[in-house]
Amino acid sequence: MGPRRKAGPFPWEEEAGPVKSLFGKLADGTKVHRWSLENGGTRLKVLNWGGVVQGLEIPDRHGHYTNVALGFDNIDDYVAKTPYFGALIGRYGNRIAKGQFTLDGKSYQLSVNDGVNSLHGGKQGFDKHIWDVEPFAKGSDVGLVLHYTSIDGEMGYPGTLKAKVTYTLTRHGDWIIDYEATTDKATVVNLTSHVYWNLAGEGSGTVEDHELTIAAGRYTPTDTGLIPTGELAKVSGTPFDFRKTKTIGRDIRDGHVQQVQAKGYDHNWVLDKGITSKPEHVATLREPRSGRTLKIATDQPGLQFYSGNFLDGTLTGTGGRTYRQGDALCLETQHFPDAPNHPNFPSTVLRPGQTYRTRTVHTFGA
Ligand code: BGC
Repeated sequence: MGPRRKAGPFPWEEEAGPVKSLFGKLADGTKVHRWSLENGGTRLKVLNWGGVVQGLEIPDRHGHYTNVALGFDNIDDYVAKTPYFGALIGRYGNRIAKGQFTLDGKSYQLSVNDGVNSLHGGKQGFDKHIWDVEPFAKGSDVGLVLHYTSIDGEMGYPGTLKAKVTYTLTRHGDWIIDYEATTDKATVVNLTSHVYWNLAGEGSGTVEDHELTIAAGRYTPTDTGLIPTGELAKVSGTPFDFRKTKTIGRDIRDGHVQQVQAKGYDHNWVLDKGITSKPEHVATLREPRSGRTLKIATDQPGLQFYSGNFLDGTLTGTGGRTYRQGDALCLETQHFPDAPNHPNFPSTVLRPGQTYRTRTVHTFGA
């Protein structure tokens, strides 16, 4: 535990360093803890269950704080029915067709949990495990280091994968995610974070009026099972063109076959900048009434923009309000879905001796 300091005028926590409290218990009695931290005007609440961001509060242009991340107020809902609210996703973000791939001449069958396909790591992905969490304070940063070791063969994936994820809050209120992983056998890996954003506040209704910009001239169209066809299609002249800022709602009812199939946007954007050694700005989200903005920078080549299509009014969130279709969106930095089955997509293979390392930076404003 690093140095602690008063959080100033906020009633939210008495102290700004990461503070641990009991959130609930799993059926077998295992304690689930919640870590609360604050820095530079951003307040983060994180569970050791799935590394879940259970709350993320930022001010609007008048300094009013709101929780902009969908979630639950109890562990039972996270265990029983979460659609990955705020969770860390592994070993493989998004879908792998039929849960199958071949690597170095060997075929693997993964856990299948989305029709015939494997989604977000299979039935019990990284979002459904207890992670070891250590708080830190370094210079002007505060944060948490989360560890999870996935044993060889878990969910069908080869190799023991040691994953380390660092959540950092900077003094400017940026939220940085650093992902690291090593393996003892050749495997595939694609880690991401599954926060559902609503910059007007979770439970406040649709995000169709949020303005979005994505620096991508192409996207990966999918089949009816939301598996990429392999094509890198141009966004120009389609509803998928977010190169110039537009509201999410503007073209969402366009009738484009790709949207009808996905019930909205649920696609991987091929970021113009490609893979970079350092994070580069790729997307901006803005909510006009509050003025809140979220900017995303990443070193990854892809961004999954999912417009909350499968929220259907059956889940009640942290603030006691029901989440309906389009009440949030996800912006998941990643390699492309089903890359292990598409030689033309950037490789997701990790080999012994290599370290998987990637960073995404979230910058908030109002
Ligand atoms: C996927 C959606 C899926 C959702 C899970 C997103 O990352 O793209 O297809 O339904 O996660 O809630």
